[in-house]
Amino acid sequence: MIYPHGGKLVERLDFSEKAREESMELPKLYITLDEARDLGNIGHGVFSPLEGYMVREDFENVLAQGRLSNDLPWTIPIVKDVSDKDVDMLFEEDEVALVYKDVPIAILKVEEIYPYDKKEYAEKIFGTMSIEHPGVANLMKKEEHLVGGKIILVNDPPTKFPNYKLWPKETRVLFKERGWKTVVGFQTRNAPHVGHEYVQKTALTFVDGLFINPLIGKKKKGDFKDEVIIAAYEALFEHYYPKNTATLGILETEMRYAGPKEAIFHAIMRKNFGCTHFIVGRDHAGVGNFYGPYDAQEIFYEYPDLGITPLFFRSFFYCKKCGTVVNEKICPHGPEDHINFSGTKIRELLLKGERPPELMMRPEVADAILQFDNPFVE
Ligand code: ADX
Repeated sequence: MIYPHGGKLVERLDFSEKAREESMELPKLYITLDEARDLGNIGHGVFSPLEGYMVREDFENVLAQGRLSNDLPWTIPIVKDVSDKDVDMLFEEDEVALVYKDVPIAILKVEEIYPYDKKEYAEKIFGTMSIEHPGVANLMKKEEHLVGGKIILVNDPPTKFPNYKLWPKETRVLFKERGWKTVVGFQTRNAPHVGHEYVQKTALTFVDGLFINPLIGKKKKGDFKDEVIIAAYEALFEHYYPKNTATLGILETEMRYAGPKEAIFHAIMRKNFGCTHFIVGRDHAGVGNFYGPYDAQEIFYEYPDLGITPLFFRSFFYCKKCGTVVNEKICPHGPEDHINFSGTKIRELLLKGERPPELMMRPEVADAILQFDNPFVE
């Protein structure tokens, strides 16, 4: 089976009563649900080889080189911002508890507290300083200092979808039990249209198994709600997927909308889950017109040492002349014959309570979405 990123699966867990009680005695830093989820990701090795929040050397190297200080590919900072008040407290403490809604999620061993330049962060990671970019807008709301150090998870973060929650240790067992030697991972933040299905099934033709791994967590206004994505995939699986070659499991972390840099990060996480291949299509993890449609594919050429094989796809669309879903590599006809899988068009129809045309979205998927009063993040 494919090695985790950095060679071994990180496990930083202590669910003993003793650890939980000790954590209750520590000074507290309150965290958000998305931060709690990322602590789960560190503790259970989704972010292997990270063992905690990045210290300055790693953070600066990720910005400058897209690599950790030991040269391992890594493109998205995993950091914790802290207020000026908390900075004073943290200078006094060796350990603090990271608490979500009165539940201690992790113990942080404080290693370093450091200032950072948000503009540089935005420019290097998102490729823009525009606050029209949702990732940049989030960043600008953060505090001015970061705290680095290893963590120990003492409680799992809460999840709304326990049936689909799998940690890398579990997916690795699952893939092995199924006898899948090669597995392609699919990242998504959307309910599936027919284009998504074609990308997945084309990739699956070449490997043993398909791991559809929707991202559950903070998203921007207008994106599909988490429960809608799950219901839509349940419908697609029930009607259109073979049980022995495809499986569904969630990844709980926020969307950063960092396009190319996030594509590398997405691939690394799927490598930790045990995938050997990773799908990168059109405008992967992109938003608006901030990235070129295939920038997220180009960046992979800078990472020959990534350790997971990307599978690149040109944009799929429906061609009236071909009478099926194709892309520019396999279709000779012109744009006048093409119907794109437009997210905006699909959203407009769903908001009116209408099923998008069958060639765009499976009727069972559309019906699953239409059960919700408002399927989109407000
Ligand atoms: S993303 O933000 O998670 O990338 P989305 O869920 O729409 O958004 O896409 C999931 C994956 O499918 C990405 O790799 C994306 O590039 C790919 N993809 C989406 N639509 C198409 C399409 N029409 N043709 C080819 N690839 C696509």
